[in-house]
Amino acid sequence: MSFKPAKWPRKLRSQEWFAGTHKDAIYHRGWMKNQGLPADLFDGRPVIGILNTWSELTPCNAHLRDLAEKVKYGIYEAGGFPVEVPVFSASEPGFRPTAMMFRNLAAMAVEETMRGQPMDGAVLMVGCDKTTPSLLMAAASTDIPSIVVTGGPMLNGQFRGERVGSGTHLWKFSEAVRAGEMTAEEFVEAEASMSRSAGSCNTMGTASTMASMAEALGMALSGNAAIPAVDSRRRVMAHVSGRRIVEMVKDDLKPSDVMTKQAFENAIRTNAAIGGSTNAVIHLLAIAGRVGIDLSLDDWDRCGRDVPTIVNLMPSGEYLMEEFFYAGGLPVVIKRLGEAGLLHKGALTVSGAAIWDQVSDVQNWNEDVILPTEKALTQSGGVVVLRGNLAPDGAVLKPSAATPELMVHRGRAVVFEDIDDYKARINDEDLDIDETCVMVLKNCGPKGYPGMAEVGNMGLPPKVLRKGITDMVRISDARMSGTAYGTVCLHTSPEAAAGGPLAVVRDGDMIELDVPNRKLHLEVSDQELKARLADWAPSHETPDSGYAWLHQAHVEGADTGADLDFLKGCRGNPVGKESH
Ligand code: FES
Repeated sequence: MSFKPAKWPRKLRSQEWFAGTHKDAIYHRGWMKNQGLPADLFDGRPVIGILNTWSELTPCNAHLRDLAEKVKYGIYEAGGFPVEVPVFSASEPGFRPTAMMFRNLAAMAVEETMRGQPMDGAVLMVGCDKTTPSLLMAAASTDIPSIVVTGGPMLNGQFRGERVGSGTHLWKFSEAVRAGEMTAEEFVEAEASMSRSAGSCNTMGTASTMASMAEALGMALSGNAAIPAVDSRRRVMAHVSGRRIVEMVKDDLKPSDVMTKQAFENAIRTNAAIGGSTNAVIHLLAIAGRVGIDLSLDDWDRCGRDVPTIVNLMPSGEYLMEEFFYAGGLPVVIKRLGEAGLLHKGALTVSGAAIWDQVSDVQNWNEDVILPTEKALTQSGGVVVLRGNLAPDGAVLKPSAATPELMVHRGRAVVFEDIDDYKARINDEDLDIDETCVMVLKNCGPKGYPGMAEVGNMGLPPKVLRKGITDMVRISDARMSGTAYGTVCLHTSPEAAAGGPLAVVRDGDMIELDVPNRKLHLEVSDQELKARLADWAPSHETPDSGYAWLHQAHVEGADTGADLDFLKGCRGNPVGKESH
């Protein structure tokens, strides 16, 4: 940790808008004053943008306006000037074709919102899956001092005496209906019991994972990730984060000071320890690309390889975020990494202190939830990076959510050309498939879908489910919801729509998965594979929507974060020219 706080007081970027007696300053201040703002708010104190992804169509973030009020208290108390700004909100449940396509659009819009306006610091009010990475990407590209405040998870779901988790039980109940073990009426009855309070998914899905990643990266205050949305301590977290961002602006503590290579390595190990979502791979690669940190898939495999998964939360385990909070939350996990020699202890956080100093005194209050190492869900919990002639640029698999017996498997490919083909044929009793087969899904990657849908955990055929089989090897260029599970090879790169070998897999080909040896192999000769690729031509449609077209034309592969090629890197925060 080598950060040296800047001198205070000094002139801030907001003063380029608000300072002086000339026409432009009066124009900027005067219009703001129509909100009833006292003159001294413009006197050179830090102007803090509360960038709020609140939206009634982003239900996981629908409570963020209330929480923003607490942030404002903290900012005022510390001598700052809060301005709440609505920003693009990529809702996971609502956006079509997939929220992932809009992560980069949100990041681009928020970046310009930060740079183009009088803002010295930012509070990133996020929660639902894509909202967290998109705002972190924007903050990284502007390098304006920023702190993350997540909305927190929902309370535990309960249905007929059973703990039910967001997403995880959606998949479970849906398969139960298809296997004839649950009625459609019971499924509908379970609906509301999965989402019984404000907040984001209560499993260790992508939202909880990304909240944990923000904390492990050092971009949120310690303890932020797990506090339930409706717990009074969530409001305290918002309040103190408001105080802290003002001090961060005074110190000039920027995202690039916090999000170092060491911070990313801490986050990767944390993801392994919590059994986090495979979506974190794509998001962290994209965020690193914005800071200019050289992070690769190999870093994921290298750093996560020997980290046990000790957080017993769905989808890998048994409990939910509420219990994780009561057990001590993420600080306990980070402490355990530190004790095991798996943490860069000196990594700086937005608190101004090193990450280790935040957690060295915490305690684990429930060893069923945060497990002792010898009882870990898996001893090597990191996301596995597979390579081979089927995935020359890599594919990922989450061992804690997979079936140990399927980690080494050889099977006959049953190929679905796209998600519509899968939907049309999967329930066909005549489909030539059994549990030893390998299900292959193409054209669901960043370009192909477009946007990279969360369909990689495609449901099993009913005739296999009826035998009581709950898992098969599945391979695709898609993503998987962080709340899902199974022996699922995801993010296969290059994707089919970009002419990767996945595009030319045929029914009946034999495929070998060997997780211990990190291998994903299509058993056809090099010559045959070359010939098939020479015959291949893209078949995906060009989208009508302007943004979808832009995305498809410029999105990079999942193996490097699926960012738009022209958005990578940090562009800083020059104040630009005055136009009046
Ligand atoms: Fe929004 Fe899960 S759908 S957090």
